[in-house]
Amino acid sequence: MGYSITRKILKEHFMGGSLKAGESLDLRIDQTLTQDATGTMAYLQFEALGLDKVRNELAVSYVDHNTIQVGFENADDHNYLKSVAAKKGVVFSRPGNGICHQVHLERFGVPGKTLLGSDSHTPTGGGIGMLAIGAGGLDVALAMAGVPFTIIAPKVIEIRLHGKLRPFVSAKDVILKVLERFTTKGNVNTIFEYTGEGVKTLSVPERATICNMGAECGVTTSLFPSDEVTYSFLKAQHREECFRELSCDSDAEFDGLFEIDLSTLEPLTACPHSPGNIKKVAELAGKKIDQVLIGSCTNSSYQDLVKVGQILDGNHVAENVSLGIAPGSREVLEMISSDGTLSKMVKAGARILESACGFCIGNHFSPCTDGVSLRTNNRNFEGRSGTKSGQVYLVSPETAAISAITGVFTSPLEQNIVSSVENVNAENFYTDDSMLIFPPTDSSDVTIVRGPNIGQPPHNVPLNDKISGKVAIKVGDKITTDHIMPAGARLKYRSNIPLYSTFVFEGVDKDFSARCAARRDSNIANLIVAGYSYGQGSSREHAALCPMYLGVKAVLALSIERIHQANLCNAGIIPLTLMSEDDYNKINSDDDIVIENAIEQIKSSDLVSVTNKTQGYTFTCKLDVTQTQRDMLLKGGRLNQIKESLK
Ligand code: F3S
Repeated sequence: MGYSITRKILKEHFMGGSLKAGESLDLRIDQTLTQDATGTMAYLQFEALGLDKVRNELAVSYVDHNTIQVGFENADDHNYLKSVAAKKGVVFSRPGNGICHQVHLERFGVPGKTLLGSDSHTPTGGGIGMLAIGAGGLDVALAMAGVPFTIIAPKVIEIRLHGKLRPFVSAKDVILKVLERFTTKGNVNTIFEYTGEGVKTLSVPERATICNMGAECGVTTSLFPSDEVTYSFLKAQHREECFRELSCDSDAEFDGLFEIDLSTLEPLTACPHSPGNIKKVAELAGKKIDQVLIGSCTNSSYQDLVKVGQILDGNHVAENVSLGIAPGSREVLEMISSDGTLSKMVKAGARILESACGFCIGNHFSPCTDGVSLRTNNRNFEGRSGTKSGQVYLVSPETAAISAITGVFTSPLEQNIVSSVENVNAENFYTDDSMLIFPPTDSSDVTIVRGPNIGQPPHNVPLNDKISGKVAIKVGDKITTDHIMPAGARLKYRSNIPLYSTFVFEGVDKDFSARCAARRDSNIANLIVAGYSYGQGSSREHAALCPMYLGVKAVLALSIERIHQANLCNAGIIPLTLMSEDDYNKINSDDDIVIENAIEQIKSSDLVSVTNKTQGYTFTCKLDVTQTQRDMLLKGGRLNQIKESLK
């Protein structure tokens, strides 16, 4: 039986465990990336390990999330990140150089390598044939220390592409089709591998768009072959020496198949407030819009923006619409500025934004009250735009640009403003690495700069044999890491855990933090009860670290998303799965909960017995973790565990 590309890369990076789907697998990590929102904590944790330098092949620190907020906090963080990078052997990508995934694809991505990033859209690298996985900051810190990364060996689903996209239908519509089929639930420990003759019709940036939003399905990652299209992209980036051909064997075995005929696809949109809430754009035709934002790590490539420029050329943004465009990297900005695209955008009335995440994370350009915002990014969770009542629809750059002109939802297939768009694959990218700072060989005289916003990573204590506490909050389904740890204006506190912890569940229950802190100080444990898909969304490990700081000892949920589950274990918080909706319905906020013999139960059992003292019954939860995670739960988290092993 032949191998899929996924299996080939997994075998090459095998460091222990098993390749059998569902079993624990340790992988060697070649490259790491961090961004500023998660990076400060990752480097504080790396420092806590006591190593002089990173030990993996390549580590890059990007500043792209919080680039323009007011106050000293972000500037402090950037100085810390820059200096710790120089000290520890990490490449530093300065603010303004672009969004981590776009820049990494352009300047560092290598087919067949493994990449671990402290950002949930790290799978973007699958567009160039990397096995690129998102993880919490601590996992990335450990990968920088050369520690293997443990995953559950995945199932591999083949997504076979046929035919060719029609003009005005794009890669975004392909991944929205995949989301329609697979939804945002139930795809953990799975990798999507793209095959079929349709693959050759897609450029590397288009493939990257598709891999980027695979994250919304909850898969471990997504992956494309590395072929002549990949070679052309690398050659245009003057990096052809990095090319390596990668294809799946003709008799490769997969765990499932989904086929898409690209030629029959039509423009799609993800409606508020989930990326899996898919409709045809044509169904919404005529709906008035207020705002259009083009960019983000999903759709900000040169190819995307050239098409936007072609559509805007000679037209003007409708009076009722504000159009913002953020090029994904400085390279893209330079290219659209020299080929005339930028001028077409400006003449059409577009507002040009910095090459950064910006609007995607709610840092600016929040829509008006109840405002309808068309965006090319990957997530539209309620409130993520910065406006709770904002109605965010995710669309392709083509749909976004056409609708900006008409002022209403418009299918680019059915408009009569622009007759065609041309797919432009640059044969020679403008490359300029002057905004990358490579670390010195001898960093002995580098001083790490720590402003007042830079704290220390919080430490947990080893597990008590008896966990006795209260349900601090009971929440419903699909609680995202944004619900747990608000981003936007609060994100600037990310390097200061005690301060950031005062905002946990701020939008859900504003008294949560104070209540938990008071109980923690009285030696009463806090527990969180949740429905399905708890912790979905970004990889933000603060959604585990801050609750840990507040004395949360366990999460009891009907299901917990993969990255968040790992982050909980890393923080020493026990992730327990409720066995039935009945168990979820019976338990209430403020109930007194006791877990007896916790050490023995966590050490050796997949089932954990929990007693609800208030209501007088005992129930069983599932503990679905690896042996390594059991050990870290006993030791009070990953940092305690690793420090012990490095002694
Ligand atoms: Fe940035 Fe948004 Fe992507 S925050 S990394 S552009 S998902």
